[in-house]
Amino acid sequence: MSAESDLLASLRAAVGDGHVLADPALRAGHETDWSRRWRGEALAVVRAGTVEEVAAVLVDCRAAGAAIIPQGGNTGLVGGSVPRGREPRGRPQVVLSLTRLRDLEVVDVAAAEVTVGAGATLGALQAHARGAGYAFGVDLGARDSATIGGMIATNAGGVNVIRHGPMRQQLVGLEAVTADGAVVRRLPGLVKDNTGYHLPSLLAGSEGTLAIVTRARLRLVPLPARRAVALVAADGADEAAALSGELRRTLPSLLAAELFFEDGMELVLRHSGGSRPFREQHGAYLLVEVEGSRDPTDELLGAVEGCGGLVRDAIMCTDEAERARAWALRERHTEAVNAQGVPHKLDVAVPVGRIGEFVRRVKEAIGEAAPGARTYLYGHIGDGNLHVNVIGPAPEDEAVDDAVLELAIAMGGTISAEHGIGVAKTAWLEADRGAADVAVMRAIKAALDPDAILNPGVLLPA
Ligand code: FAD
Ligand code: MLT
Ligand code: ZN
Repeated sequence: MSAESDLLASLRAAVGDGHVLADPALRAGHETDWSRRWRGEALAVVRAGTVEEVAAVLVDCRAAGAAIIPQGGNTGLVGGSVPRGREPRGRPQVVLSLTRLRDLEVVDVAAAEVTVGAGATLGALQAHARGAGYAFGVDLGARDSATIGGMIATNAGGVNVIRHGPMRQQLVGLEAVTADGAVVRRLPGLVKDNTGYHLPSLLAGSEGTLAIVTRARLRLVPLPARRAVALVAADGADEAAALSGELRRTLPSLLAAELFFEDGMELVLRHSGGSRPFREQHGAYLLVEVEGSRDPTDELLGAVEGCGGLVRDAIMCTDEAERARAWALRERHTEAVNAQGVPHKLDVAVPVGRIGEFVRRVKEAIGEAAPGARTYLYGHIGDGNLHVNVIGPAPEDEAVDDAVLELAIAMGGTISAEHGIGVAKTAWLEADRGAADVAVMRAIKAALDPDAILNPGVLLPA
């Protein structure tokens, strides 16, 4: 038997024959990412069902010199969840799928916390929390597929960061398996616990390069009794940023402030159907959501009216159907852009006050790097996070990525606000973080994963 068939045999012994997918047809959906820009070939997809099985898979792969690609819902947009086109050391790659770890434990009502398996989807967690009278602080468009483990690994952000922070801020405890198969577990749910290095914080955003997340203890937030949404038209990104700032100041209950533009909205309407919300075209659109224990519509209306000259037009969405229509205009950008071709997706943040300047300069930079390319911008304006999507350049052509990421860094921003580095942006990591930071990251990686079996080629340049 070859080394690879030996490894397959030991993986089957670890998780059961039916959970080792070696057939190319069964592997296919796990080998290409959501954007279709990133793909590679795996020896097998292994679907572990318990933390002990995860540990056994890691031990077997390490002994066989195979690389492990952790995978949750495979909705990540930077190529970290699928095999590399070329594994840095030419080793076989095993996709370790965590979606079977989807336990939802009983909500701890007194602590406002819950412990869930890494493979539970965000949507399942949200419904579970709601059943106990709570909500979860992070929300994003891929809620029905994205898993809690993947969201921790990417430190996912989403639409409510201005209110509740990203995934890292929701973490009270964690269970994870390190590269040698050891299980680290601290799940008692103590908010105050100053006993050394905080492993949940370290693993949040580590993109599967330091350990496999198997369970998490998460903080919950009060379930808002009522919500109100407004769609506000402004002259441009500068005005939308000013509006978002003013609403943040005047609305303590502000949950989301999202930005999009006419061209993106038109694309969404062509892709999904529906009609324009405003008769006239405007330079930018801001979707604002507030929450409250009583109907916050009047409070939102008053705050929008208070912004006077910044508002060109506004629609208050008074029922659930109108709110859903407004949210669809924003959330459906991702799928509408994807339907145009394989996008270059650049998830940057710049200081909020410079959003308007960035919008102008990024269009010029893309025009120079890739004449004729189509650019769609949208994002979470409340936290300065803009998604730059470019259709046209071939997937392997990095000229546009270079231009956008260099501009973000030059303007005091970051090359990744919420999606992570993945394989897409390793070449720019040092320009963003600096050599000293990257050296510390390499030292941590070497200490926890000395054979570099966990997601090689992701986050740190190979
Ligand atoms: P995957 O894509 O499977 O994996 C992502 C990374 O985490 C990979 O590096 C993988 O190796 C690693 N990983 C996965 N599971 C584990 C684990 N258990 N242990 C260790 N490492 C693991 N992201 C945002 O931040 N905000 C948004 O608003 C947002 N909106 C989106 C909307 C759409 C329509 C889509 C398609 C994506 C969106 N995303 C957004 C991106 C994506 O949903 C997030 O990055 C999410 O956190 C990925 O979760 P996942 O389970 O799909 O992870
Ligand atoms: C979003 O905010 O819509 C997501 O992060 C996905 C994307 O960038 O398209
Ligand atoms: Zn986003």
